[in-house]
Amino acid sequence: MLHALMNLLSLCWKPFGRGDGEGGVDSIGIVGANLKGGGGGRDGKDSLLWFRDIGKYAWGDFSMAVVQANQVLEDQGQIESGPFGTFVGVYDGHGGPEAAQYVCDNLFRHFQVSAETEDVVTAETIQNAFRQTEEGFTALVSELWSTKSNLATVGTCCLVGVICQGTLFVASLGDSRLVLGKKVGNTGEVAAIQLSTEHNANLDEIRYELKELHPHDSQIVVLKHGVWRVKGIIQVSRSIGDVYMKHAQFNREPIAAKFRLPEPMNMPIMSATPTILSHALHPNDSFLIFASDGLWEHLSNEQAVEIVHKHPHAGSAKRLVKTALQEAARKREMRYSDLRKIDKKVRRHFHDDITVIVLFLNHDLISRGTAQEPPVSIRSGLDH
Ligand SMILES: *[C@@H]1O[C@H](CO)[C@@H](O)[C@H](O)[C@H]1NC(C)=O
Repeated sequence: MLHALMNLLSLCWKPFGRGDGEGGVDSIGIVGANLKGGGGGRDGKDSLLWFRDIGKYAWGDFSMAVVQANQVLEDQGQIESGPFGTFVGVYDGHGGPEAAQYVCDNLFRHFQVSAETEDVVTAETIQNAFRQTEEGFTALVSELWSTKSNLATVGTCCLVGVICQGTLFVASLGDSRLVLGKKVGNTGEVAAIQLSTEHNANLDEIRYELKELHPHDSQIVVLKHGVWRVKGIIQVSRSIGDVYMKHAQFNREPIAAKFRLPEPMNMPIMSATPTILSHALHPNDSFLIFASDGLWEHLSNEQAVEIVHKHPHAGSAKRLVKTALQEAARKREMRYSDLRKIDKKVRRHFHDDITVIVLFLNHDLISRGTAQEPPVSIRSGLDH
């Protein structure tokens, strides 16, 4: 069964525009797509929101939006799509933008090489790409330790979806989330089905997992101001980066005191091993919403699915971001129009950086096996 699946997926990554010098991947960066620059109408002032209302990838339409709250945007997002497959990544950084940028620059490349070398796409292909990316970033931290030691405390959550030959693989580290909108029943309803696993110490199962891995450490998770944190420091238990929580040699001066553990670390506390699942796409699977936790802090899975389902494809991602911002404003008894006037950095007190990518699934295209659309390579890489 596994072998059959492997054969089925074996051609997925061949035509991705590497090697034979033809079919190079287009780059359609999202530049200056803020509301001021047209396309968005009346909301001219909100320069912290970037979007691509609609575009086409191998299996249908996509929509993408990013809003910045931190002084330097810590989120990154990408869509890489060729005739046979699609790769989507949402990287939600913390402690700085470097790890998310590094992952956006390297994870897909490792995945592509690994898929081509082994001639298949499996959970292992994805696992290998994550491992190589973590090793590369750790090597970079090591190299820069004497000049830029704070890089040891920078990390990123990663949510990756790979669609190839009718199968969706989902790999996650940290607390970004993928929700599927699926048609059910005869009334035109769409159900919300969460496909990603989250690694956040606020979840019972994650605290349980950490306690099992560290039976002799009574302080492995600590509740502080109502929030559970690994070692009282960080909410997520898995990431790329955060090497100060993985290797003892980086948990020492000169990193900031708040990151240094009181006792020697004799085993890694955080992990870079993603949880991976595969999902055979069903004709009723209608769209996928990939988003960093900044969205889910303000919207439930059901609300998000409802918003996408009830409106046109174009502008879906921006609509989700705006609804989350309206909700963030409401919680603080503000108007959305006032929230929009608040500058980045101060914004972080109201909401997080948010990245949303919506993929609509056109099953006529999926069942054909080979997409007709030209390749796309899109990054939400914003000019800082
Ligand atoms: C698929 O969608 C149709 C129409 O909404 C519905 O009647 C059917 O029950 C759905 N099938 C599954 C397996 O959910």
